[in-house]
Amino acid sequence: MTHSSPLPPVVVIGSGAAGLSAALSLAPLPVMVLSKTASLTAGSTPWAQGGIAAALAEADQPALHAADTVSAGAGLTDGSIAALLAHEGPRAIARLLAQGMPFDRTSDGRLALAREAAHGQARVIHAGGDSTGRHVAATLLAEVASTPSITCCSDSLAVDLILDPHGNNLRGVLILDPTGWRIQPASAVVLASGGMGMAWRETTNPPENTGDGLAMAARARALLADLEFMQFHPTALAVADSDGSRLPLLTEALRGSGAVLLDRDGVAFMAAEHPLADLAPRDVVARAVGKRAAAGQPVFLDLRPALARDGADHFPQVLESCRAHGFDPFTTPVPVVPAAHYHMGGVVTDHRGRTSLSGLWACGEVACTGVHGANRLASNSLLEALVFGDRVAADITLAAADGRLNREMAIAAVSIPAVRDGAGCRALRDALRVLCSRALGLVRDGDGLRAAIDEVARLDQQFSALPRVAPSLADGQAWVEARSLLTLVPLLLASAEHRQESRGAHCRLDHPQPREAFCHRLTVRQGRTPRSAEILPLHGLAGEPSNPAPASTLFPLQSVPRSPA
Ligand code: FAD
Ligand code: SIN
Repeated sequence: MTHSSPLPPVVVIGSGAAGLSAALSLAPLPVMVLSKTASLTAGSTPWAQGGIAAALAEADQPALHAADTVSAGAGLTDGSIAALLAHEGPRAIARLLAQGMPFDRTSDGRLALAREAAHGQARVIHAGGDSTGRHVAATLLAEVASTPSITCCSDSLAVDLILDPHGNNLRGVLILDPTGWRIQPASAVVLASGGMGMAWRETTNPPENTGDGLAMAARARALLADLEFMQFHPTALAVADSDGSRLPLLTEALRGSGAVLLDRDGVAFMAAEHPLADLAPRDVVARAVGKRAAAGQPVFLDLRPALARDGADHFPQVLESCRAHGFDPFTTPVPVVPAAHYHMGGVVTDHRGRTSLSGLWACGEVACTGVHGANRLASNSLLEALVFGDRVAADITLAAADGRLNREMAIAAVSIPAVRDGAGCRALRDALRVLCSRALGLVRDGDGLRAAIDEVARLDQQFSALPRVAPSLADGQAWVEARSLLTLVPLLLASAEHRQESRGAHCRLDHPQPREAFCHRLTVRQGRTPRSAEILPLHGLAGEPSNPAPASTLFPLQSVPRSPA
């Protein structure tokens, strides 16, 4: 039975920069923010080091920032979205400053600007040296605490999106929390659930980044895009005893300040790889480090020039991580490896953050606005989270004013899924991480991708055979995370297999050059049979979600047509 009632809250899944920005800009509409973790300080946001890019310098202009963003994207960035991001950047920074963000300043009181790879200007602002993310999270959370329209729910695991019986409109979210299952009606849902770095064995991402929101959208058959593009950061600290958790990041700002990559003989090698040497684009540096690591040759980062130039105060997090793992970067170069860092792919959105599902908006790393293309420009993602969090809120506020939001408080017949044994789920998650590192690493090839597609099918069968257990939060989380990866990995493999070229972060050994035939985004939707993918090549970059390619261009994974070589 359903009946009309007062507007349910807007449910925001995620308490990172994107989710909190959206929640704040939605005031005074009632908002419920969910985080799967015990603390609201979660996801990648608090770990961000380098800073936030914005055209703030006198010599800089949004058009220059947009041009660098487009150039980094290797032909796949949507120029209009890049222009929008760059033009709205300074206003987003002004909003953060008004909320009390303590950005670092020069001795004469101006914002201190750093330079990072592939930026033509010094335009990265930071706080507490390399502690930018911590300050962003604290600033936004303090503002949220004094905003009465926002209710925050930690330890609240979003499990699935609930649609109307026709599968067209969003009605709410299925949640697992310490009290058990809960069905939360929503006037609108904002996915701000971050990335999926935990799908790889080596990652800079925290453990909660398992792509749950992206997987929920996939199961609801929303359009996704650019899934094959995972950005690897070249300099994660090579920690022997990481036990599969995140590897500490050594920020690119170190190389911006003079730190140098060295091979096992102590020789600086990047100048031989690229004219920009250590400040070459991130994918180039990551592959140069990765090829040595793959050959069993350790690579080191010599931090001493950066520490001498800018002082230890600039890099407190880096120094804390080095010390915690027994390294002294003041005397000795430290070992580094590339690690999965930022997912360019996500839920397709337009410039308002609307997805292809009515009632669902997305922002931050889970979204694919088209701004990052095949390779994200460093420090553009926090900016994107702030700008598009605000844009999503503006669009939902308009929809509320026009009476276009869902008012259904009662949701009929939701099937509650069966939670499987946590230990078994964790073992499967770890097997998937090994598989992704092998098949979807810095370099890929068709044989490896196709073998991985078969292997995922076997892992999926093992998942279904795991014993059912009562849904505790701990078992539930392990189950949700394994299920997320089992939903997403086949879609990533299908996209990477289909893109038979090398471009940006996607490097195919069997197709080493970019190809004109692939100079467009791949939009993907989960197929109707297990682990199948419908790939919709969008030849324009607009990717208007409400108007997908005609059905004749849809095909299952098994029959992906090949473009002529
Ligand atoms: P996140 O901050 O990742 O937040 C995701 C939220 O979703 C969390 O609250 C999480 O609990 C919640 N969530 C996830 N799944 C569920 C679920 N099932 N149910 C309920 N809640 C859920 N970018 C920059 O621009 N500059 C930088 O200097 C920079 N440095 C970085 C350093 C590191 C080490 C890393 C890992 C990333 C860095 N990035 C940087 C990238 C940037 O931090 C992220 O892209 C950005 O913070 C993403 O913000 P978000 O709000 O989209 O998601
Ligand atoms: C870094 O500080 O090196 C990471 C910056 C980013 O990923 O944007």
